[in-house]
Amino acid sequence: MRLRNIKGAKEKVLASPYIVQNPKEYCGKWNKLFCNENPIHIEIGMGKGHFIIENAIQYPNINFIGIEKYYSVLIKAVEHLETLELPNLKIIPMDAKDITEVFHSEIDTIYLNFSDPWPKNKHEKRRLTSETFLKRYDSLFKEKHHIIQKTDNRKLFEYSIITCNNYGYHIDKISCNLYEDEILNNIPTEYEIKFVSKGYPIYFVEFKK
Ligand SMILES: C[S@@+](CC[C@H](N)C(=O)[O-])C[C@H]1O[C@@H](n2cnc3c(N)ncnc32)[C@H](O)[C@@H]1O
Repeated sequence: MRLRNIKGAKEKVLASPYIVQNPKEYCGKWNKLFCNENPIHIEIGMGKGHFIIENAIQYPNINFIGIEKYYSVLIKAVEHLETLELPNLKIIPMDAKDITEVFHSEIDTIYLNFSDPWPKNKHEKRRLTSETFLKRYDSLFKEKHHIIQKTDNRKLFEYSIITCNNYGYHIDKISCNLYEDEILNNIPTEYEIKFVSKGYPIYFVEFKK
């Protein structure tokens, strides 16, 4: 993704009450931060936050945590949240490569929405469904492993099916055209809205282990 550096973005993002600046301190005890035992769903690469914010509004009995590595992207989410009060939403500005230091045996679902495809072989380990990342996710889940992916990128979609299958996941739901198959209660992301408006198919897959 091409990124414009926004002056003052880091300071503005870090000042938001939704941001957790010391996430490692909550490793294994995120429920204490939320003050309840509700399930925890995370989105890795939340971008400007449309998907996770809308989820937090629609599902108050689920705790949502968004992860994003760029402040210049997060600033849009933070500005959107200024008008909202969502006790079930937190945001962590971080690179997901360090995710095992932040969560332990407490996550119910991981969302990977329109993740960067990293098409070059030499970058395979950066793909969020590479074996490298699937290994990292192992220690995060509370009980069952549950990953939901949406993408416009057919190659990434096929790659994820292969890597997840090789890693012991089974496919619970799948669609090669989400908007034709009408999977219920779909909440679109910013990228999804853009791609759908151009008529591109949206690939959807739900993995469980
Ligand atoms: C293509 S955008 C999709 C944004 C949003 N999920 C959507 O569907 O509209 C991918 C986002 O993932 C973020 N991202 C990619 N790799 C990441 C990583 N390792 N850790 C945290 N964020 C990451 C990027 O900065 C970018 O904002």
